[in-house]
Amino acid sequence: MAFFTHHICRGLSSSAVRHVVIKHVTIIGGGQMGAGIAQVAASTGHAVTLVDTNEDILKKAVKGIEGNLKRVVKKKFADKPEAGEEFLQKAMQNVSISTDAGSVVQGTDLVVEAIVENLKVKQDLFGGLDKVAPAHTIFASNTSSLSITDIASSTSRLDRFGGLHFFNPVPVMRLVEVIATSSTSQETFDSLLNFSKMLGKTSVSCKDTPGFIVNRLLLPYILDAVRMYERGDGSKEDIDIAMKLGCGYPMGPFELSDYVGLDTMKFIMDGWSAANPDNPMFAQSEVLNKLVAEGKFGKKTGEGFYKY
Ligand code: CAA
Repeated sequence: MAFFTHHICRGLSSSAVRHVVIKHVTIIGGGQMGAGIAQVAASTGHAVTLVDTNEDILKKAVKGIEGNLKRVVKKKFADKPEAGEEFLQKAMQNVSISTDAGSVVQGTDLVVEAIVENLKVKQDLFGGLDKVAPAHTIFASNTSSLSITDIASSTSRLDRFGGLHFFNPVPVMRLVEVIATSSTSQETFDSLLNFSKMLGKTSVSCKDTPGFIVNRLLLPYILDAVRMYERGDGSKEDIDIAMKLGCGYPMGPFELSDYVGLDTMKFIMDGWSAANPDNPMFAQSEVLNKLVAEGKFGKKTGEGFYKY
């Protein structure tokens, strides 16, 4: 694994922008989000190492990335098949896999974590990586609902720690939420903004508050739809059609829940409802709890609100 040097860029305007140029990215977690981030980073010219403890997951992720890129190439390079092949080869050459995070981060500029939504597991991971990663390496979490400040607390690089929250499917969704904690340095924040731009994404920022912008608004909306269905106010099919045709949303709340994963949604809501037990917006849903208890997590398990 090559080591990369620390580059500082200065903008030409009076408000000088300093940021670390991200050449090599380590993405921890070979699930849907990690693989999606890896795909976008590799196809925008970054060297990417995708890390997971399970080699089979990594192999599946690489296969998925290649399949997705082939689809992109077919459409984008329809008239130039040779250029398309070159793009595909280059992007795939940018992707490597590893089950050893400790050795990979020794040569990386940025670590993006996209593992299970469990604070202790994330803290343990980052605490360990902090000891072996070079001083300039920036750490970022793709957490959907946990506090970046809490995750960062297991490291000694609070100034080089932030949030980079992507959306599913990562290659299609154009947004990244970039989160600075009260300890994140301006240079780190600018580096994360610049990296998001390099990925071709539009970024927004908000404070390190639960759910950031999107999930804080999206989850209560989805849960309200589930409560309408529980009360029998409307069928899930009609609620989905209503929000698609009445609001122009690409998916209705039940389709989107199945797509995001009911387990993920429940995890987020459980955290918020424990922290705000008196807020009806975060109240438990019997239907959601039952589906999750039955292992019906949505599209990924073949059944959620709908069957697949
Ligand atoms: N990877 C890469 N590309 C994909 C893809 C994937 N997994 N899924 C779809 N695409 C591409 C397709 O190739 C297609 O590309 P072109 O437009 O170039 O042809 C395009 O996306 C549209 O796909 P489809 O025609 O297959 O299907 P669609 O039009 O029904 O769109 C969708 C599918 C993009 C998922 C759309 O339904 C959608 O935008 N849904 C809402 C998704 C959403 O809200 N995501 C955010 C969830 S919240 C979250 O992620 C945060 C969290 O922390 C929980």
